Amino acid sequence: MGTLWSQERSPEEGLPARRSRPCPPRALARRGLMAALLFGLLLGSSVLLFYIFWSCGPRPCETPVCRDLQARYLASGNTSAAPCDDFFSFACGKAAGTSTSFQTLAEENKERLRRILEAPGSWPLRSGQEKAFQFYQACMDTGAIEAAGAGPLRQVIEELGGWRISGNWTSLDFNRTLRLLMSQYHYFPFFRAYLGPHPSLPHAPVIQIDQPEFDIPLKQEQEQKIYAQIVREYLTYLNRLGTLLGGDPSKVQEHASLSITITSKLFQFLRPLEQRRAQGKLFQMVTVDQLQAMAPAIDWLSCLQATFTPMSLSPSQPLVVHDLEYLKNMSQLMEEHLLEHRDFLQSHMIFGLVGALSPALDSKFQEARRMLNQKLRELTDRPPMPAHQRWMECVEETGTFFEPTLAALFVREAFRPSTQSAAMELFTAIKDALITRLQRLPWMDEETRKEAQDRVTQLQVKIGAPEWALEPALAREEYNDVQLGSSYLQSFLSCVRSLQARTVQSFLQPVPYHRWKVVPWGVNAYYSISDHVVVFPAGLLQPPFFHPGYPRAVNYGAVGSIMARELLHIFYQQLLPGGCPACDTRALQGAQLCLEDHYAAFPLPSGTTFNGSHTFLENAADTGGLTIALQAYSQRLVRHHGETTLPDLGLSPHQLFFRSYAQVMCREPDTQDSQDTHSPPILRVLGPLSNTPAFARHFHCPHGALMNPFSRCQLW
Ligand SMILES: *[C@@H]1O[C@H](CO)[C@@H](O)[C@H](O)[C@H]1NC(C)=O
Ligand SMILES: *[C@@H]1O[C@H](CO)[C@@H](O)[C@H](O)[C@H]1NC(C)=O
Ligand SMILES: *[C@@H]1O[C@H](CO)[C@@H](O)[C@H](O)[C@H]1NC(C)=O
Ligand SMILES: *[C@@H]1O[C@H](CO)[C@@H](O)[C@H](O)[C@H]1NC(C)=O
Ligand SMILES: *[C@@H]1O[C@H](CO)[C@@H](O)[C@H](O)[C@H]1NC(C)=O
Repeated sequence: MGTLWSQERSPEEGLPARRSRPCPPRALARRGLMAALLFGLLLGSSVLLFYIFWSCGPRPCETPVCRDLQARYLASGNTSAAPCDDFFSFACGKAAGTSTSFQTLAEENKERLRRILEAPGSWPLRSGQEKAFQFYQACMDTGAIEAAGAGPLRQVIEELGGWRISGNWTSLDFNRTLRLLMSQYHYFPFFRAYLGPHPSLPHAPVIQIDQPEFDIPLKQEQEQKIYAQIVREYLTYLNRLGTLLGGDPSKVQEHASLSITITSKLFQFLRPLEQRRAQGKLFQMVTVDQLQAMAPAIDWLSCLQATFTPMSLSPSQPLVVHDLEYLKNMSQLMEEHLLEHRDFLQSHMIFGLVGALSPALDSKFQEARRMLNQKLRELTDRPPMPAHQRWMECVEETGTFFEPTLAALFVREAFRPSTQSAAMELFTAIKDALITRLQRLPWMDEETRKEAQDRVTQLQVKIGAPEWALEPALAREEYNDVQLGSSYLQSFLSCVRSLQARTVQSFLQPVPYHRWKVVPWGVNAYYSISDHVVVFPAGLLQPPFFHPGYPRAVNYGAVGSIMARELLHIFYQQLLPGGCPACDTRALQGAQLCLEDHYAAFPLPSGTTFNGSHTFLENAADTGGLTIALQAYSQRLVRHHGETTLPDLGLSPHQLFFRSYAQVMCREPDTQDSQDTHSPPILRVLGPLSNTPAFARHFHCPHGALMNPFSRCQLW
């Protein structure tokens, strides 16, 4: 018997001794009877021994990780709610707070990094770890930051040529200020420049020039009243910055107003991505010289050269430009302003820089920024940002600047090889289930089906962390150019420069197969179309979403569904109108309409504002992801026995699978972000689960109950 189980058990599961497994009395009696038979008749027959196990049902997992998970389930679910009528309340009824479980997990991962960064330890002198720890401490030393006040920032402004509204002003060359901002402060007021893959040679890096990122949404198409309010809030913010820097209030007001005018004009030049794509103008190749002729206000060669050293640029350097019209209009605007309002343009750049540096400034600057963000979110109907504690900001900054070091520390602490292999095993099961599933889709024609299966087969997967994070030598990277000291702002800026240099360096080195877009302790999985690779960071594969010692139902229900959903992103295109001309379009549209109606049938709690027309693709992925994960889990059950479950919840393994799927979505139901392309959590639970016949079967739901409707849809 022992061997029978141990084949099933991986070492880290740490399952309880068999003796502690409770058997229900009836099963006990049966077991006694069977045992007597066994001794009397078929001593040693393994077939009957197996039956005995079977009759005891799945064993509860009593390890600390399982107990911890059970406590979370008990804390979030409402056991009085009827699963067949309202599974969302059953699983999430007591979940409080506006954070999604992903956000909560992301915070827990950061908390873990915090514990690492705050643990007393001794690191090799001048090593990467030592610098990361010192930086974190400097960030946490708010006493020193407050004591320094605006002093370090004034020094920065002096280096840029001063500011008309506070102190002396030297009329510096516009090109020189811009070059300094881009190369020394990584701040891009009028356009954004970065290295990215070449559009047709995916692994050759090329400089890309795109629209800038703005502090505020100053789109004039929005309602006039809201626009005016946004302008007013932004003006208040800029005035505060000016006053904090000791500016004369009336002068500050004048410069702040003009800065807003410039931003608002730049906004008018922006053209939406879709429009540029439709016109084939999203990737235009030009040389530096050509760009210089089209947008002459900027000294492109010297600004780009300073930003991307040690690359060596020439006038014939090719660039990828994402919005050429914008750059032309922007250049023209600059020239107009340079003639008359040179000092206003300087102010505009400094206002922007101060905003961008606010994480490294004292509490007054940070508070001004926080208030602006809160107001903007109110005005644009977005839920407020949760207040962040200082340690979390410091963990985030340290993570940005010392990513290789923190990645290695996180993986060593939270992502053992056994977790990696369990996650890989789960992914393989999901991928196989998807390939099987593709065979059964009635709307897909044979050729598309074959192509789709090939796409899945050829897909690369990255789980945990990039290979380099696992190489100790690289993770100890020494950051020789990082100078920590004098003030936190100076340390911060030194890190900014070091990071920029490392980013350029890494692009000049032989190209890795795929450059990760998320930090390893992050929680967002993604699919990269260009590299045809799907990525699941170590931060996602953590309790309560995943653990090699959890009952398998938990892992399949939570991370298994997430993995399947990510795989379905490969096929988004086919669900769009005209996306699959060879498919049976009528059957496909029928399935899509069916799913839309299915979702529309659920009553939403009063006060939920939400527009279902944006969420169709994600609804399809939710529903399909659950179906595929369930199929993978059921296939596993056919081949292997020995499921465990969580103690004292009274859930069978299949019920646990569904509960685990829902648990990932738990959140207060009425805090929907209007820009979210996902349905509100309640729909993400009820929609897919009620569309799954096995759910109704395993929860014994009567026909016609909310979770057991008379008809269902099959898209995936
Ligand atoms: C739990 O569900 C029951 C039945 O739906 C309901 O009456 C009760 O208010 C719920 N409790 C909480 C804490 O939401
Ligand atoms: C302005 O410059 C003069 C001469 O360089 C200097 O004496 C003065 O302190 C400066 N004022 C401010 C506010 O920096
Ligand atoms: C910046 O440099 C470019 C290229 O040399 C030049 O055409 C432009 O006039 C300069 N701008 C200013 C304000 O000096
Ligand atoms: C941008 O420039 C073009 C050509 O110079 C002009 O036709 C267009 O009106 C400008 N766009 C805006 C929004 O001013
Ligand atoms: C939902 O969004 C669509 C497309 O953006 C829009 O046409 C429709 O009017 C919106 N519906 C509601 C109820 O706001």
